[in-house]
Amino acid sequence: MIVLGIDTSCDETAAAVLSDGRSILSNVVASQLIHSEFGGVVPEYASRAHIRTIQPVVEEALSEAGIGYDGIEGIAVTSRPGLVGCLLVGVSFAKALAYSLDVPVVGVDHIEGHVFAVRLAEPSIPLPTVCLVVSGGHTELILVEDWGSYRTLGRTRDDASGEAFDKVGKLLGLSYPAGPVIEKLASDGDPTAIRFPRAMMKRGNLDFSFSGVKTAVRYRIDELDAPLEGRELADFLASFQEAVVDALVTKTMWAAEANDVPSVCLGGGVAANGPLRTRFQEEAARLGLASVVPPKKLCTDNGAVIAAVGDSLLSKGVRDDASLTISASREAARARR
Ligand code: KG4
Ligand code: ZN
Repeated sequence: MIVLGIDTSCDETAAAVLSDGRSILSNVVASQLIHSEFGGVVPEYASRAHIRTIQPVVEEALSEAGIGYDGIEGIAVTSRPGLVGCLLVGVSFAKALAYSLDVPVVGVDHIEGHVFAVRLAEPSIPLPTVCLVVSGGHTELILVEDWGSYRTLGRTRDDASGEAFDKVGKLLGLSYPAGPVIEKLASDGDPTAIRFPRAMMKRGNLDFSFSGVKTAVRYRIDELDAPLEGRELADFLASFQEAVVDALVTKTMWAAEANDVPSVCLGGGVAANGPLRTRFQEEAARLGLASVVPPKKLCTDNGAVIAAVGDSLLSKGVRDDASLTISASREAARARR
């Protein structure tokens, strides 16, 4: 089956074409640069940009895949969670296209999309597995019993890990999204220079909290006489990054041991972070666990992972219709069903 996957949940307009649930024929992502000066996503600007970009992005995905509109056999679209106005653009477009082509459409959970990056990267990963999903809006440890069958083991009590990177970046006047900028600036810094706090590090506690490290960063910045630069900035950021990575990796391994799984895996935009990827694989190997760390392009928001979830749902006979709607949160989506 040829599935078109669409994601407009935040500030990326993404479309991809997937064949038979695993072979990516195209994966086009248009990132919105308009938010960089604001230190975060401005929802109204984001939805307007999606309206302008969605059709060209879909057509580019089709053209790269070497098919026309008539080659689409099913459409998958992120319908939850995300920014309401942004989700609406993708869902409205997908429903109209499905109606005009007379093909099925299915709404997809964005977080499940991040989990499916792992399946696309390594379909034979031994299950059950513990998946760490780390993005700008979410930080969760998920027990994947099977594809489509999940149990949340822990989640952030305040900021998401990507949000922590973005907020620390904003405090230091870096552009949004700050994650990749911080990683680059921290690359030759000493991660042991400053001991930033790691929250809730009692073994067995699988929840996260990143507001403490953010506040610690703010206090240190307030105490400075001059802005950080050069070596000092590199050490500062490497130490912050280390505190976040340490909490994420430590708790994933605790979750793996507590649930006696043979493997661990990673998804979401923050999973593009080099030190996190390396440390995750090292710790898994030390514990004798298989680990899957998908290519960066599949970790950050993209349509291929949405198409992969869609393919799996459509092949089980799951379908939505014109009543498909959007939800800002997963809880709201569950309550309605
Ligand atoms: O999954 P994603 O693309 O969008 C959401 O669903 O939120 O994740 C975006 C987040 C942003 O907070 C961004 O700063 C962070 O992922 N991010 C990174 C890196 N690349 C993206 N954080 C740390 N290091 C990176 N290399
Ligand atoms: Zn995401």
